[in-house]
Amino acid sequence: MKGRAALTVLGFILLSFTSLCYGDLQVGFYKKNCGFKEVELMVRKVITAQFYNDSTIVAALLRLHFHDCFVRGCDASILLDGNSTEKNAPPNFSVRGFDLIDQAKAVVEGACPGLVSCADIIAIAARDAVYLAGGGWYNVETGRRDGLVSLASEVDLPAPSFSVSQAIAAFGRKGLDTTDMVLLLGGHTVGVTHCSLLQDRLYNFQNTGKPDPTMDTFLASIWRFKCPQNAAKDNTVNLDQNPKSTDVVDKSYYKQLMINRGILQIDQELALDPQTNATVMSLATGCKFSAQFGQAMVKMGAIEVLTGTQDPKPKEVEPKVDLESGQAWPPPTANGEPEIKIGWSCNHSSFTATTALKDLKLKLHHLGHPLIK
Ligand code: HEM
Repeated sequence: MKGRAALTVLGFILLSFTSLCYGDLQVGFYKKNCGFKEVELMVRKVITAQFYNDSTIVAALLRLHFHDCFVRGCDASILLDGNSTEKNAPPNFSVRGFDLIDQAKAVVEGACPGLVSCADIIAIAARDAVYLAGGGWYNVETGRRDGLVSLASEVDLPAPSFSVSQAIAAFGRKGLDTTDMVLLLGGHTVGVTHCSLLQDRLYNFQNTGKPDPTMDTFLASIWRFKCPQNAAKDNTVNLDQNPKSTDVVDKSYYKQLMINRGILQIDQELALDPQTNATVMSLATGCKFSAQFGQAMVKMGAIEVLTGTQDPKPKEVEPKVDLESGQAWPPPTANGEPEIKIGWSCNHSSFTATTALKDLKLKLHHLGHPLIK
């Protein structure tokens, strides 16, 4: 494990010397803006330390990034607490990884107070997670500002029962094309789904009283065993059914789709629908997945971002949301207009920078990790 960690760190160091520009976001934004302190490295230390304890954080961070970007853009609005914020919308109930972002935020706050956005931390953390899990490295763009509004009612994520056409339309509304969509669904190369989301495919597909005929029949019988009807406990099933690759970011997800071992309906449909099957086949048989997945992640990470000093979407900041304790938000000023805070912000972490650093050092020390030296 130590050898693997050392190699990983060397890879990270060699790969992070680039500073390129794409539109409003930039690769290496914090190199210029945080007194040359290595913000990305700080985040990476937090993610690396946790990864060697629990590799399921890769799936958590990937999904967190997707769910953040698809609602109000990549603005960390998914992190905001409150009675009716995004976090409390049903599609986000099983989203994980909030604590990790808090931890990384606390660490970077110690170095660059009030500068590093949580939206950037999510993007950096997802990239680091992909790389740690065997996916390719990609340069992550930074310079996002955090949003100030988060509404459960706006969470309109694609559902697992979507047809390919519906999913293409949903991704299209975010500026992503069909190929981007097929690549990004490659995120299902790691992680799990709950059995409750498979009941329809296993027992009563589209009210036929029968299983989904596109499923591999042997595998379906195993899934039925793991996911009994009306079970008291909602078990989980790996999204990538290749047992050697369930927590590796690689093309095996597409190979599984080609042999009818897709778990969610939308996954399997990708391999069957004429709009996407050629891309699935080319990803399953070729060797471009890692590089192309990275490019698609960068594209997703640029959805509707707030950058620079631009106002956070003025039309959307009417005082209509209670972020904390049911109060109208943003609070009206003396003249009755909502007050818009310009600058960096995100949910305040329960960690302090000191406790987070102490915790991280302990973990790295325990692992004999070279980053600690
Ligand atoms: C049409 C688009 C998509 C649909 C319908 C969809 C649906 C789902 C569903 C239903 C789950 C299981 C949730 C649960 O049981 O708790 C899931 C898990 C997951 N999704 Fe997606 N997803 C989509 C796109 C994406 C994208 C674009 C990514 C990342 C780039 C992604 C990454 C993940 C990951 C990593 C998991 C596993 C999470 C974990 O283990 O905690 N998904 N997705």
